[in-house]
Amino acid sequence: MTHLAAAPPPSVRVRAPGKVNLSLRVGPVQDDGYHPLVTIFQAVALYEEVTARQAPGGAGVSIAVDGPQADRVPLDGSNLAWRAAEALADHVGLEPDVALHLTKGVPVAGGMAGGSADAAAALVACDALWETGLPRAELGSIAAGLGSDVPFALLGHTAVGTGRGHLLTPAMTRGEFHWVFAVQDEGLSTPAVFGRFDELTAGGGSGAALVDDPGLAEDTGLMQALRAGDPHALGAALHNDLQDAALSLRPELERTLDVAREAGALGTLVSGSGPTVAALARSRQHALAVAATWTAEGAADSVWCTSGPASGARTLP
Ligand code: C5P
Repeated sequence: MTHLAAAPPPSVRVRAPGKVNLSLRVGPVQDDGYHPLVTIFQAVALYEEVTARQAPGGAGVSIAVDGPQADRVPLDGSNLAWRAAEALADHVGLEPDVALHLTKGVPVAGGMAGGSADAAAALVACDALWETGLPRAELGSIAAGLGSDVPFALLGHTAVGTGRGHLLTPAMTRGEFHWVFAVQDEGLSTPAVFGRFDELTAGGGSGAALVDDPGLAEDTGLMQALRAGDPHALGAALHNDLQDAALSLRPELERTLDVAREAGALGTLVSGSGPTVAALARSRQHALAVAATWTAEGAADSVWCTSGPASGARTLP
C-alpha cells in the first residue's frame, strides 16, 4: 500500500479575540523605551478573522481587509499580520508566500489590541498553511517579538501580563462578564498615550516598585472577583494607570465615562491606551441598556456589546 502525504490545505481561517485590560499598572519608562507593566487581560468575544491562502512561490505577502473601519488598516509591511507571516517564515527558513485576508471585528487603534489579534491569527494560520507545526510556546515567543499584546491574543481567556505585558500567567475566572464598548472613529496612538503618561508622572510611573517586584498586591480584590464570578466586585476593582493620559489627549471621553456610570454600569474605564471606553454591565440586557444610553447621548461613534472571557487564536472549520 502506498502512503500519500496529505496535500497542504489551500486555505486556513483563524480567529483571535480583542481584549480589555481589567487592571493596567504602569512603571517608569526603561532604557529600551518600554514601560514595565502588571496587567490583567480579559479576551472579549469581538474577533479578528484571518484567512491565509497559498500564494505562488516568490509572491511574498499580500493583504486584503474588510469589516468595519477596514479603510483605516494599512495593506503593506507596516501591518502586524504581514510582519507575523514574515517572522514565522524567517523562523522556519521558508519564503513568506501567502495571501492574507483580514476581517476586522475589533476597533482599529482603539486600545483593544485588534492589530495584535491579526498578528496572532496570522501566526496560527500560516503555521497551519505552511505545515510548520510549531508548538504554541514557540509561536508565543515569535508573538512577543511582534508586539507586547500579541502573546495574549494567542492565549485568550483571562491572564496576568508582566514585563512589557508579554509574560503571561492564566488567571482563574468563573462565569461570563458582560461588556459594552464605546468606540471612537478616531483612534489614539499607543506610544503617544505612553508619552503623555511619562509627562504626567514626570517619567516616574505609578509605581517604581513594579520594576523590581511586579506583584499583584493591589489587584487581590480583582482576582477574587474574577474567581467568584462577581461582576459588582469586578466593576469596583477596574483600574487603568493610562486613563488620565488618554483623557488628557481626549477630554471628551470623560463624558462617555459619566454617561455609562449614570446608566448604572458596575464599572467603567478606558480600554488599554484608549480611546475605546469599556463599561461592565450586570447582564446582557443591562449591557444593551447601557449601549442604548451611549447611543442616545451621542457619547460614542459606535457602540459594541459583547462578553468575556473569550478563547485565544483558534482555527475555524
Ligand atoms: O509592543 P508594542 O509594539 O505593541 O508597543 C507599542 C508602543 O507602546 C511601544 O513602542 C512603546 O512606545 C509603548 N509601550 C510601552 N510599554 C509597554 C508596551 C508598549 O511603552 N509595556
